[in-house]
Amino acid sequence: MPATRIRMSSLLDRIVSAEQAASLVKDGMVVGMSGFTRAGDAKAVPLAMAKRAQTDPFQITLVTGASLGKDVDRVLTEAHVLARRMPFQSDPTLRAAINRGEVMFIDQHLSETVEHLRSGQLGPMDIAIVEAAAITEDGGIVPTTSVGNSASFAILAKKLIVEINLGQPAALEGLHDIYIPTRRPAREPIPVVACDSRVGHAYVPIDPDKIVAIVITQQADSPAMLDAPEAGTAAIADHLTRFFEHEVSMGRLDLSLNPLQAGIGNIANGVLAGLRNGPFHHLRMYSEVLQDSTFDLLDSGKLLFASGSSITLSADYAQRVFGNLAAYKDRLVLRPQEISNHPEVIRRLGIIAINTALEVDIYGNVNSTHVNGTQMVNGIGGSGDFARNAYLSIFVTKSLAKDGAISSVVPMVSHVDHTEHDVDIIVTEQGLADLRELAPRERAEQIIANCVHPSYRPQLEDYLDRATARGGHTPHLLEEAFAWHLRRQATGTMLAAVSPLD
Ligand code: COA
Repeated sequence: MPATRIRMSSLLDRIVSAEQAASLVKDGMVVGMSGFTRAGDAKAVPLAMAKRAQTDPFQITLVTGASLGKDVDRVLTEAHVLARRMPFQSDPTLRAAINRGEVMFIDQHLSETVEHLRSGQLGPMDIAIVEAAAITEDGGIVPTTSVGNSASFAILAKKLIVEINLGQPAALEGLHDIYIPTRRPAREPIPVVACDSRVGHAYVPIDPDKIVAIVITQQADSPAMLDAPEAGTAAIADHLTRFFEHEVSMGRLDLSLNPLQAGIGNIANGVLAGLRNGPFHHLRMYSEVLQDSTFDLLDSGKLLFASGSSITLSADYAQRVFGNLAAYKDRLVLRPQEISNHPEVIRRLGIIAINTALEVDIYGNVNSTHVNGTQMVNGIGGSGDFARNAYLSIFVTKSLAKDGAISSVVPMVSHVDHTEHDVDIIVTEQGLADLRELAPRERAEQIIANCVHPSYRPQLEDYLDRATARGGHTPHLLEEAFAWHLRRQATGTMLAAVSPLD
């Protein structure tokens, strides 16, 4: 192993196997693990924990930055290791266990988890397992492709296991900016004043005595699972491009826009990629996950700088970016997720936040997490951190799901993640509703006219007409508000067969 990877020589005798490290995790522990949307996650020790649980059953509370790769959540779920899990996940097996009530999932704003840990509301954290590219001469931890919550986990946990991943480029060192907020209530302002502000260390400063084990690994991150761009996503990007051009013509933005945040998944990635076709330039990102589209924008010269908490790429892009990191390094920074998602910074920078909804209602309330109000998909992630505090809070979704059996615009959302007060703009492939400064009745007209698929528009117009006739600031027919969801359950589709009144 290159000596540059563990530069504090007194730590070399703490190198052990993944199995030996896994034996340090005991039943009932609160365990922190690195990992943020499949990037920079601990890869060997969690799998060794799952193996051990087959003969020596134990259960833990697992806290991460966000979702994990390498099937870690699946394997730990199947081994019944997870009693409690927070603050985000995206694994189908874990999702099913959560929805069966077997794993207690705490779906949390991503900026808040380490605040809870620091203040003692969560924890104490017994042990943290974090992936690192290197350990410095002073025992500082150099993260890999994500920072997430790893810095605070390493600082606050009683014990630390470090996975040194030789497969992650050594050139990652220098990419990170580790700033930890001071204690409340006398906290200093967070000194980030621009996307490219560097305000902390390039490594996580810790007491090296707490490192109880070092495991050497070699595996790459799991690639992002992105579908090829398609017409619906391109149409959403076109509507947004025209909206931004309008804002420029009104003098509210210039062609460099305000710093951009884009959420996870296919739609957000496709929408960001679509901005390449607009007249914009000198763009900046202050986001959470940097996906493939960020690097297309950097390559096109339209994006000047990107700040995030993780880099999550598909296999081809990972090769292109990590094989040539020097070409990008001075235009990137990775921060702890409480800083990338910090309300104070988001409000200060005037972020344009673009996140994805599962469903929206006629007044602009957004459900990002629960199918039929009950079945968890992934979690709220950072969308709430951004939506509440952004200059422009934009939600995108395709107007239909499941081949048209579901309308993404419904009378009332079956679960609320973002209230109408936090939603400025809704975009589907049908069009864009600008809800700013509108009263609820006006918002409903905008959304129905611009965002709803034509096959559902008459049904929604009828609902709104009859609700409005009954009166109210936010008119509803409470006895029918969830009739669309019930119809989908009963008949397989939200479409009214005969009349919208049935
Ligand atoms: N009801 C039921 N299912 C729906 C639905 C609805 N109203 N709308 C979409 N779906 C289904 C799709 O059919 C698809 O199912 P499949 O996986 O079986 O094909 C799935 O949900 C994902 O939808 P898709 O249209 O591909 O969108 P996406 O990949 O962009 O993901 C979210 C959308 C909402 C699930 C995802 O963005 C998310 O988890 N968001 C919450 C967290 C977040 O915003 N984080 C970003 C902060 S930085």
